[in-house]
Amino acid sequence: MNNPFRIGVLGSGQGSNFVAIADAITAGQIPAEVAVVLSDVESAGILQHARDRKIPAQFIPPGQFRTKLDENAERAFVTALQNAQVDLIVLAGFMRVLKGDFLRAFEGRIVNIHPSLLPCFPGLQSWKQALDHGVKIAGCTVHFVDAGVDSGAIIGQSAVPVLDHDTPETLHQRIHAAEHELFPRCVAALARKEISVAGRRVIWKKA
Ligand code: GAR
Repeated sequence: MNNPFRIGVLGSGQGSNFVAIADAITAGQIPAEVAVVLSDVESAGILQHARDRKIPAQFIPPGQFRTKLDENAERAFVTALQNAQVDLIVLAGFMRVLKGDFLRAFEGRIVNIHPSLLPCFPGLQSWKQALDHGVKIAGCTVHFVDAGVDSGAIIGQSAVPVLDHDTPETLHQRIHAAEHELFPRCVAALARKEISVAGRRVIWKKA
């Protein structure tokens, strides 16, 4: 591939969304390559999945805060992504909020997956929030990242039913499965430059 579209992936967890994207690339469904995988959690499964695929993977200590990166960590993440010359940053279960300097360095080039139909249930454990609220339809959202929490323009959404016997775990599993289909589809459209943005509205040039 000449000048392939380069993706940087950030994750804090098991990395099943990264695996779905990496598998879609291998299957020729996304015209891109993963240039680097970064994590704020040294033991995160996502790093091992990347290493298994011979993709550069790095743990970067997040610093003193619980929900965001400190200044040094932010600089280290930005530098690693710039060195990898990424075109797009994919947050695949990255559990820290990104702030000013990071967002400015990659404006309009960061996307996230969230386990709810936004704008419902932003924040943590959205599947549990959905169950507690009693909604009948849950799902997941891929969106651009802006300065708010789970508030950026929506690229794609996928719905799943909430069943009467659901526990937080069974609902999360169903949402996860929907994520594994939605996220690669959105990343493919971004890599193919089939997405345009008009204010909050994201238009798919080719459905
Ligand atoms: C996914 O369900 C994703 O939507 C969620 O973390 C999980 C990561 O799973 N992200 C967030 O909650 C971000 N606020 P994975 O590590 O198996 O891809």
